[in-house]
Amino acid sequence: MKKKTNYNIAVIGATGAVGQQIIRLLEQRDFPIDKLKLLASSRSKGKVVAFKGQEFVVEEATPESFQDVDFALFSAGGSTSIALANHAVESGAIVIDNTNAFRMDTDVPLIVPEVNLEEAKKNKGIIANPNCSTIQMVTALKPLYDRYGIERIIVSTYQAVSGAGSQAVNELLNQTKQLLNGEEITKGILPVGSLPVKKQIAFNAIPQIDVFEENDYTREEMKMVRETKKIFNDSSIKITATCVRLGVVSGHSESVYVELKEDYDMEEVVSLLNNAPGVKVVDDPSNQAYPLATEAAGKLDVFVGRIRKDLDHPRGINMWVVSDNLLKGAAWNAVQIAEEMIKTV
Ligand code: A2P
Repeated sequence: MKKKTNYNIAVIGATGAVGQQIIRLLEQRDFPIDKLKLLASSRSKGKVVAFKGQEFVVEEATPESFQDVDFALFSAGGSTSIALANHAVESGAIVIDNTNAFRMDTDVPLIVPEVNLEEAKKNKGIIANPNCSTIQMVTALKPLYDRYGIERIIVSTYQAVSGAGSQAVNELLNQTKQLLNGEEITKGILPVGSLPVKKQIAFNAIPQIDVFEENDYTREEMKMVRETKKIFNDSSIKITATCVRLGVVSGHSESVYVELKEDYDMEEVVSLLNNAPGVKVVDDPSNQAYPLATEAAGKLDVFVGRIRKDLDHPRGINMWVVSDNLLKGAAWNAVQIAEEMIKTV
């Protein structure tokens, strides 16, 4: 990619939960754009989306959509990325892919700018955005990894429905209304659209995100395991995850237990977190201050609180990590990668 004053951007999945946030962020951050192309499925062809006071018509994404595109930001599901990302690369675009399609490919960098931005330079046309739950956890753990090393992570997530797309948000809102009206609920796509059995999400906690793998962990849990090792470039980290979907619209929360390789000083831990890029500490038990999904919604940072020594393990720490899953967990991480790349071309 050549240095330019303004860049041509395509957003694939422009009508979806993440795509809409990407469009808002490009607008708010005044990303230097020459031409903006909004792409989705044939269902959305002709829809109009406002950007900086102008109206843009959504086009159907096809292999020919990427002529002259510098950055193609994909958030239209794994099968769309598999079908179209290589066409975008062949047309000369850098693909920043929000799906699971290429994350574990050895020649695709998996990037969280606060953690491993330098890896992005090795891209061969595609850069992958990690899973939302992984992004917020590794952003919070990065300063501790650098200072003490990490032996083991045990994470339990409390994830919002917006991570499963806009249809899942509608499902939660509809079920909530139905239950409050004393009606029978309709179940549409949760926990997994492609599986036959559906579960109630309103007023519930579902311990299944994505399909089960052969080892009885879900794919979401295994994404956290595999992606964390790849992002830190450290396969020695022991990690186990339990991922749970809650009846929350926006913001993923995580209980993270981390065992460090070296002894730590708690004041230093808090100071490292306070100074870490992209991290904000909200931690004052005496005033009931801790991160909340409702308060993280709409913000770009990863919030960390409830930081406390493990009672038994001398190198163990527990913390509560919260972020807006559609922003740092998806759209912001992708736009941030593009912003960083244009700084260095
Ligand atoms: P559309 O609105 O036309 O279906 P979400 O994650 O909120 O469910 O959004 C998914 C996004 O991916 C939407 O913008 C959707 O467009 C888009 N999408 C789904 N399938 C395709 C496809 N085959 N080609 C291009 N975009 C697609």
